[in-house]
Amino acid sequence: MNIKASAPSNIALIKYMGKVDGQGNKPTNPSFSYTLEHLRTFVEIELDANLKHDVWEPLEGTDLFRVELSEKGKERFLNHFIKIKTLFKREKEFYKVKSANNFPSDCGLASSASSFAALTECAVRAFDQDKTLSLNQIADLSRQGSGSSCRSFTGPWVEWNEDGIAKIDLPQKQILHMAIIVEEEKKAISSSEAHKKVSQSLLFNGRPQRAAQRLTNLIKAMKDQDWRKMYEISWSEFWDMHALFETSDPHFSYMHPESLLILRFVEMYWKENNDGPVCTMDAGANIHLLFRTDQKNQLLEFKSFWEKQFKIFVGQNG
Ligand code: PMV
Repeated sequence: MNIKASAPSNIALIKYMGKVDGQGNKPTNPSFSYTLEHLRTFVEIELDANLKHDVWEPLEGTDLFRVELSEKGKERFLNHFIKIKTLFKREKEFYKVKSANNFPSDCGLASSASSFAALTECAVRAFDQDKTLSLNQIADLSRQGSGSSCRSFTGPWVEWNEDGIAKIDLPQKQILHMAIIVEEEKKAISSSEAHKKVSQSLLFNGRPQRAAQRLTNLIKAMKDQDWRKMYEISWSEFWDMHALFETSDPHFSYMHPESLLILRFVEMYWKENNDGPVCTMDAGANIHLLFRTDQKNQLLEFKSFWEKQFKIFVGQNG
């Protein structure tokens, strides 16, 4: 038996940051993301009668980049696979689990979202042959491996709240995405650690309410096609998350001087042109920019300006 699946990554404009204790990646606030169809993980699983336990291997293939998982990373990935096997009473069977991304894994874009979504999709495809699980149940299963992965099961715009995930129908169907890679190395503080640490910030008080309010405001702005408002809300939201990092006790930081340089450029660009990209940052130093399809020339301006200094990834849905 050889089963294959792939899943996209996603970038949040309203961030999932903070977990409810002991609830398998249940978030303390609702979040909202754009699905990055062009940045995908591919997973293949193969039953192997000679194995005494599941093993992970890099998936080989043209157009695929080799993923290097640490021992801890492998364990986390395989534990999630075992959880799904157990759910379908297949724990006595052992598999080769292979994975790879269609983007380099050492480029600062490697996201647990696409890997866990692809693994969950592949395992469910293999074991749930009667298709008993709904899309929301599959996403919820994936959430237990990596919270943000649950938002990768639909798109382009997805809300994740206490009821699960929901596709939100909005006028901005197609978006041009650009990632400016300021830092390529693995982050010193993983997002799992960040989720725990932010509760030590005094600013964490009121954080779920602020995120929920911004989510309501953002969806309204998008329905009104108010791109500037979308930019302002996304801007204050990622700074809110980074402020939690910087005011935690002890504080920690992902912001690089180069990240700030690009952020100031984005601000200046908006001032000079009365228009510009929506900008956000994850728990990392890299900058994500979203452009409307009629802003293609702006994207090219950003690209030609920054590609001399940084690696840049550009992609589009559809
Ligand atoms: O799913 P995790 O544990 O990797 O959480 C990542 C959370 C952020 O990427 C920082 C924000 C988000 O909502 O994606």
